[in-house]
Amino acid sequence: MLKLGHIVESQQFDRETLATIFSTADEMSSSFPQYEGILNNKIMVVLFYEPSTRTRMSFESAMKRLGGQVVGTENAIQFSSRAKGESLEDTATVVSSYGDVIVLRYYKEGGAKRAAQFSGVPVINAGDGTGQHPTQALLDLYTIQKEFEDLRGLKIAMAGDLANGRTVKSLCYLLAKHSPDNEVHFVSPVDVRMSDEIKDFMDKYRLRWYEHSGWGDVINIVDVVYQTRVQKERFKDDPITLERVRNEAEALRIDERIMSRMKEKAILLHPLPRDNDIGYGVDRDPRARYFEQSRNGLFVRMALLKMILIGY
Ligand code: CP
Repeated sequence: MLKLGHIVESQQFDRETLATIFSTADEMSSSFPQYEGILNNKIMVVLFYEPSTRTRMSFESAMKRLGGQVVGTENAIQFSSRAKGESLEDTATVVSSYGDVIVLRYYKEGGAKRAAQFSGVPVINAGDGTGQHPTQALLDLYTIQKEFEDLRGLKIAMAGDLANGRTVKSLCYLLAKHSPDNEVHFVSPVDVRMSDEIKDFMDKYRLRWYEHSGWGDVINIVDVVYQTRVQKERFKDDPITLERVRNEAEALRIDERIMSRMKEKAILLHPLPRDNDIGYGVDRDPRARYFEQSRNGLFVRMALLKMILIGY
Protein backbone atom coordinates (compact mmCIF):
# COMPACT_ATOMS: atom_id res chain seq x y z
CA MET A 1 0.00 0.00 0.00
CA LEU A 2 1.23 3.50 -0.85
CA LYS A 3 1.22 6.38 1.62
CA LEU A 4 1.24 10.10 0.94
CA GLY A 5 4.12 11.98 2.56
CA HIS A 6 4.62 15.70 3.09
CA ILE A 7 2.20 18.00 1.24
CA VAL A 8 4.20 21.13 0.55
CA GLU A 9 3.24 22.42 -2.90
CA SER A 10 0.41 21.65 -5.31
CA GLN A 11 2.64 20.75 -8.25
CA GLN A 12 4.04 17.75 -6.33
CA PHE A 13 1.06 15.53 -7.20
CA ASP A 14 1.09 13.19 -10.18
CA ARG A 15 -2.06 12.46 -12.17
CA GLU A 16 -2.78 9.09 -10.52
CA THR A 17 -2.44 10.47 -7.00
CA LEU A 18 -4.70 13.39 -7.82
CA ALA A 19 -7.35 11.01 -9.20
CA THR A 20 -7.11 8.90 -6.03
CA ILE A 21 -7.48 11.97 -3.78
CA PHE A 22 -10.64 12.96 -5.65
CA SER A 23 -12.15 9.46 -5.71
CA THR A 24 -11.38 9.03 -1.99
CA ALA A 25 -12.99 12.42 -1.28
CA ASP A 26 -16.07 11.20 -3.20
CA GLU A 27 -16.18 8.11 -1.00
CA MET A 28 -15.75 10.17 2.16
CA SER A 29 -18.83 12.17 1.26
CA SER A 30 -20.99 9.30 -0.03
CA SER A 31 -19.90 6.24 2.01
CA PHE A 32 -18.63 7.82 5.21
CA PRO A 33 -19.72 5.03 7.64
CA GLN A 34 -17.19 2.61 6.17
CA TYR A 35 -14.38 4.98 7.21
CA GLU A 36 -15.64 5.77 10.69
CA GLY A 37 -12.93 5.17 13.30
CA ILE A 38 -10.13 4.31 10.85
CA LEU A 39 -7.80 6.86 12.49
CA ASN A 40 -8.69 6.03 16.09
CA ASN A 41 -5.10 5.51 17.18
CA LYS A 42 -3.73 8.56 15.35
CA ILE A 43 -2.98 12.10 16.48
CA MET A 44 -2.85 15.21 14.28
CA VAL A 45 -0.79 18.19 15.47
CA VAL A 46 -2.08 21.60 14.32
CA LEU A 47 0.30 24.55 14.39
CA PHE A 48 -1.23 27.74 13.06
CA TYR A 49 0.97 30.84 13.09
CA GLU A 50 -1.67 32.80 11.12
CA PRO A 51 -5.46 32.98 11.61
CA SER A 52 -7.76 30.44 9.98
CA THR A 53 -11.36 29.33 10.13
CA ARG A 54 -11.87 26.85 7.28
CA THR A 55 -8.51 25.15 6.97
CA ARG A 56 -7.91 24.50 10.65
CA MET A 57 -11.46 23.54 11.52
CA SER A 58 -12.02 21.34 8.47
CA PHE A 59 -8.75 19.49 9.17
CA GLU A 60 -9.73 19.09 12.82
CA SER A 61 -13.22 17.99 11.89
CA ALA A 62 -11.84 15.57 9.27
CA MET A 63 -9.50 14.01 11.83
CA LYS A 64 -12.19 13.68 14.49
CA ARG A 65 -14.79 12.30 12.08
CA LEU A 66 -12.31 9.57 11.17
CA GLY A 67 -11.77 8.76 14.84
CA GLY A 68 -8.44 10.54 15.37
CA GLN A 69 -7.38 13.08 17.96
CA VAL A 70 -6.03 16.59 17.66
CA VAL A 71 -3.46 18.54 19.68
CA GLY A 72 -1.96 21.93 18.92
CA THR A 73 -2.48 25.64 18.92
CA GLU A 74 -4.33 28.09 16.73
CA ASN A 75 -2.21 31.13 17.61
CA ALA A 76 1.27 29.69 17.63
CA ILE A 77 2.94 33.12 17.52
CA GLN A 78 1.57 33.89 20.97
CA PHE A 79 0.75 30.52 22.48
CA SER A 80 3.64 28.30 21.40
CA SER A 81 7.26 28.72 22.47
CA ARG A 82 7.73 30.82 19.33
CA ALA A 83 6.84 33.64 21.77
CA LYS A 84 10.07 32.76 23.61
CA GLY A 85 12.05 32.69 20.37
CA GLU A 86 11.93 28.98 19.48
CA SER A 87 12.69 28.33 15.81
CA LEU A 88 10.27 26.63 13.44
CA GLU A 89 12.86 23.89 12.94
CA ASP A 90 13.05 23.08 16.67
CA THR A 91 9.26 23.24 17.03
CA ALA A 92 8.80 20.84 14.09
CA THR A 93 11.40 18.43 15.51
CA VAL A 94 9.72 18.39 18.92
CA VAL A 95 6.04 18.24 17.98
CA SER A 96 6.61 15.55 15.37
CA SER A 97 7.21 13.16 18.28
CA TYR A 98 3.78 14.03 19.71
CA GLY A 99 1.68 13.11 16.68
CA ASP A 100 1.45 11.26 13.38
CA VAL A 101 0.98 14.23 11.07
CA ILE A 102 1.51 18.00 11.39
CA VAL A 103 -0.79 20.57 9.79
CA LEU A 104 1.15 23.83 9.61
CA ARG A 105 0.10 27.34 8.65
CA TYR A 106 3.08 29.67 8.66
CA TYR A 107 3.48 33.38 8.01
CA LYS A 108 6.40 33.10 5.58
CA GLU A 109 6.78 31.36 2.25
CA GLY A 110 8.77 28.14 2.61
CA GLY A 111 7.62 27.42 6.18
CA ALA A 112 6.20 23.99 5.41
CA LYS A 113 9.28 22.99 3.42
CA ARG A 114 11.54 24.00 6.32
CA ALA A 115 9.41 22.14 8.85
CA ALA A 116 9.31 19.04 6.64
CA GLN A 117 13.11 18.83 6.72
CA PHE A 118 13.05 18.50 10.51
CA SER A 119 9.81 16.65 11.17
CA GLY A 120 9.76 12.91 11.70
CA VAL A 121 6.16 12.75 10.45
CA PRO A 122 4.42 14.16 7.33
CA VAL A 123 3.87 17.92 7.27
CA ILE A 124 0.85 19.39 5.48
CA ASN A 125 1.21 22.95 4.24
CA ALA A 126 -1.96 24.73 5.35
CA GLY A 127 -0.75 28.01 3.81
CA ASP A 128 2.72 29.57 4.01
CA GLY A 129 2.58 33.36 3.81
CA THR A 130 2.21 34.43 0.20
CA GLY A 131 3.58 31.07 -0.95
CA GLN A 132 1.14 28.21 -1.46
CA HIS A 133 -1.99 26.58 -0.07
CA PRO A 134 -1.99 23.19 -1.78
CA THR A 135 -4.91 21.57 0.03
CA GLN A 136 -7.08 24.57 -0.92
CA ALA A 137 -6.11 24.07 -4.57
CA LEU A 138 -7.07 20.41 -4.30
CA LEU A 139 -10.52 21.24 -2.99
CA ASP A 140 -10.89 24.00 -5.59
CA LEU A 141 -10.10 21.67 -8.48
CA TYR A 142 -12.26 18.95 -6.90
CA THR A 143 -15.17 21.42 -6.83
CA ILE A 144 -14.60 22.43 -10.46
CA GLN A 145 -14.36 18.80 -11.56
CA LYS A 146 -17.56 17.85 -9.75
CA GLU A 147 -19.34 20.60 -11.64
CA PHE A 148 -17.94 20.15 -15.13
CA GLU A 149 -16.58 16.53 -15.06
CA ASP A 150 -14.50 17.13 -18.21
CA LEU A 151 -11.68 19.46 -17.21
CA ARG A 152 -11.04 20.61 -20.75
CA GLY A 153 -12.11 23.63 -22.72
CA LEU A 154 -12.98 25.66 -19.62
CA LYS A 155 -12.40 29.38 -19.29
CA ILE A 156 -11.42 30.20 -15.72
CA ALA A 157 -11.14 33.76 -14.37
CA MET A 158 -9.02 34.39 -11.28
CA ALA A 159 -9.66 37.81 -9.84
CA GLY A 160 -8.40 40.06 -7.05
CA ASP A 161 -5.06 40.13 -5.28
CA LEU A 162 -3.19 37.59 -7.40
CA ALA A 163 0.30 38.59 -6.25
CA ASN A 164 -0.35 37.81 -2.61
CA GLY A 165 -3.05 35.16 -2.90
CA ARG A 166 -1.55 31.75 -2.20
CA THR A 167 -4.72 29.90 -3.22
CA VAL A 168 -4.64 31.15 -6.81
CA LYS A 169 -0.95 30.32 -7.13
CA SER A 170 -1.49 26.76 -5.98
CA LEU A 171 -4.50 26.40 -8.27
CA CYS A 172 -2.47 27.63 -11.27
CA TYR A 173 0.24 25.05 -10.60
CA LEU A 174 -2.36 22.30 -10.32
CA LEU A 175 -4.24 23.35 -13.46
CA ALA A 176 -1.03 23.72 -15.48
CA LYS A 177 0.18 20.26 -14.55
CA HIS A 178 -3.08 18.35 -14.79
CA SER A 179 -5.56 20.33 -16.88
CA PRO A 180 -3.67 22.45 -19.40
CA ASP A 181 -6.43 22.22 -22.03
CA ASN A 182 -8.20 25.21 -20.53
CA GLU A 183 -7.55 28.95 -20.38
CA VAL A 184 -7.06 31.23 -17.43
CA HIS A 185 -7.98 34.91 -17.31
CA PHE A 186 -6.19 36.93 -14.63
CA VAL A 187 -8.21 39.98 -13.59
CA SER A 188 -6.45 42.16 -11.03
CA PRO A 189 -5.28 45.61 -10.00
CA VAL A 190 -1.98 46.45 -11.70
CA ASP A 191 0.07 46.35 -8.47
CA VAL A 192 -0.98 42.80 -7.63
CA ARG A 193 -0.78 40.94 -10.91
CA MET A 194 0.04 37.25 -11.02
CA SER A 195 3.78 36.60 -10.68
CA ASP A 196 6.02 35.79 -13.64
CA GLU A 197 7.08 32.58 -11.90
CA ILE A 198 3.55 31.21 -12.16
CA LYS A 199 3.09 32.47 -15.73
CA ASP A 200 6.37 30.80 -16.74
CA PHE A 201 5.17 27.53 -15.22
CA MET A 202 1.90 27.83 -17.11
CA ASP A 203 3.79 28.53 -20.33
CA LYS A 204 5.94 25.45 -19.74
CA TYR A 205 2.83 23.27 -19.49
CA ARG A 206 1.02 25.20 -22.26
CA LEU A 207 -1.84 26.41 -20.09
CA ARG A 208 -2.97 29.59 -21.88
CA TRP A 209 -3.37 32.73 -19.79
CA TYR A 210 -4.55 36.28 -20.42
CA GLU A 211 -4.26 39.36 -18.24
CA HIS A 212 -6.91 42.05 -17.65
CA SER A 213 -7.25 45.00 -15.29
CA GLY A 214 -11.06 45.01 -15.25
CA TRP A 215 -13.96 42.66 -15.95
CA GLY A 216 -14.63 44.06 -19.44
CA ASP A 217 -16.18 41.20 -21.41
CA VAL A 218 -14.35 38.51 -19.43
CA ILE A 219 -17.22 38.01 -17.01
CA ASN A 220 -19.55 37.14 -19.92
CA ILE A 221 -17.41 34.34 -21.35
CA VAL A 222 -15.93 32.41 -18.43
CA ASP A 223 -17.19 29.15 -16.91
CA VAL A 224 -15.56 29.63 -13.52
CA VAL A 225 -15.04 32.88 -11.66
CA TYR A 226 -12.57 32.48 -8.80
CA GLN A 227 -12.74 35.66 -6.76
CA THR A 228 -10.25 36.56 -4.01
CA ARG A 229 -9.97 39.35 -1.47
CA VAL A 230 -7.24 41.97 -1.20
CA GLN A 231 -4.80 40.48 1.33
CA LYS A 232 -4.51 43.61 3.45
CA GLU A 233 -2.31 41.85 6.00
CA ARG A 234 0.44 41.68 3.34
CA PHE A 235 0.62 45.49 3.00
CA LYS A 236 1.45 46.42 6.59
CA ASP A 237 4.47 48.51 5.53
CA ASP A 238 2.88 50.03 2.44
CA PRO A 239 -0.48 51.69 3.17
CA ILE A 240 -0.28 53.82 0.02
CA THR A 241 -0.14 50.80 -2.29
CA LEU A 242 -2.87 49.12 -0.24
CA GLU A 243 -5.13 52.11 -0.75
CA ARG A 244 -4.48 52.09 -4.51
CA VAL A 245 -5.06 48.31 -4.77
CA ARG A 246 -8.29 48.55 -2.76
CA ASN A 247 -9.59 51.33 -4.96
CA GLU A 248 -8.89 49.34 -8.13
CA ALA A 249 -10.25 46.13 -6.60
CA GLU A 250 -13.53 47.90 -5.88
CA ALA A 251 -14.24 47.77 -9.62
CA LEU A 252 -13.85 43.96 -9.51
CA ARG A 253 -16.44 43.52 -6.75
CA ILE A 254 -19.06 40.94 -7.67
CA ASP A 255 -22.63 41.96 -7.03
CA GLU A 256 -25.99 41.05 -8.58
CA ARG A 257 -25.31 43.36 -11.53
CA ILE A 258 -22.05 41.55 -12.39
CA MET A 259 -23.73 38.17 -11.81
CA SER A 260 -26.40 39.06 -14.35
CA ARG A 261 -23.66 39.06 -17.00
CA MET A 262 -22.25 35.65 -16.04
CA LYS A 263 -23.11 32.57 -18.13
CA GLU A 264 -26.09 30.61 -16.90
CA LYS A 265 -23.97 27.53 -16.25
CA ALA A 266 -20.94 29.36 -14.84
CA ILE A 267 -19.99 29.00 -11.18
CA LEU A 268 -18.60 31.53 -8.71
CA LEU A 269 -15.93 30.29 -6.30
CA HIS A 270 -13.99 32.02 -3.52
CA PRO A 271 -11.52 30.46 -1.05
CA LEU A 272 -13.04 32.70 1.65
CA PRO A 273 -12.97 34.68 3.82
CA ARG A 274 -14.48 37.36 1.61
CA ASP A 275 -14.01 41.01 2.36
CA ASN A 276 -16.02 43.41 0.27
CA ASP A 277 -15.34 41.48 -2.94
CA ILE A 278 -18.62 39.55 -3.19
CA GLY A 279 -21.85 41.21 -2.11
CA TYR A 280 -24.04 39.24 0.31
CA GLY A 281 -26.92 39.48 -2.13
CA VAL A 282 -25.02 37.15 -4.45
CA ASP A 283 -25.27 34.24 -1.98
CA ARG A 284 -28.83 33.49 -3.14
CA ASP A 285 -27.70 32.95 -6.73
CA PRO A 286 -27.41 29.19 -7.45
CA ARG A 287 -24.17 29.85 -9.29
CA ALA A 288 -22.55 31.04 -6.04
CA ARG A 289 -20.75 27.88 -4.87
CA TYR A 290 -18.24 29.11 -2.31
CA PHE A 291 -19.97 27.51 0.66
CA GLU A 292 -20.22 24.18 -1.16
CA GLN A 293 -16.53 24.64 -2.05
CA SER A 294 -15.54 25.09 1.60
CA ARG A 295 -17.61 22.02 2.54
CA ASN A 296 -15.76 20.01 -0.11
CA GLY A 297 -12.62 20.92 1.84
CA LEU A 298 -13.77 18.60 4.60
CA PHE A 299 -13.99 15.59 2.26
CA VAL A 300 -10.72 16.35 0.49
CA ARG A 301 -8.94 16.71 3.85
CA MET A 302 -10.48 13.47 5.12
CA ALA A 303 -9.12 11.81 1.98
CA LEU A 304 -5.64 13.30 2.51
CA LEU A 305 -5.49 12.21 6.16
CA LYS A 306 -6.55 8.69 5.21
CA MET A 307 -3.97 8.54 2.40
CA ILE A 308 -1.19 9.83 4.69
CA LEU A 309 -2.00 7.85 7.84
CA ILE A 310 -3.45 4.60 6.47
CA GLY A 311 -2.47 4.52 2.81
CA TYR A 312 -4.14 3.93 -0.54
N1 CP B 1 -9.55 29.36 2.53
C1 CP B 1 -8.87 29.47 3.68
O1 CP B 1 -7.66 29.14 3.76
O2 CP B 1 -9.59 29.93 4.72
P1 CP B 1 -9.06 30.10 6.21
O3 CP B 1 -8.00 31.19 6.19
O4 CP B 1 -10.25 30.47 7.02
O5 CP B 1 -8.45 28.80 6.64
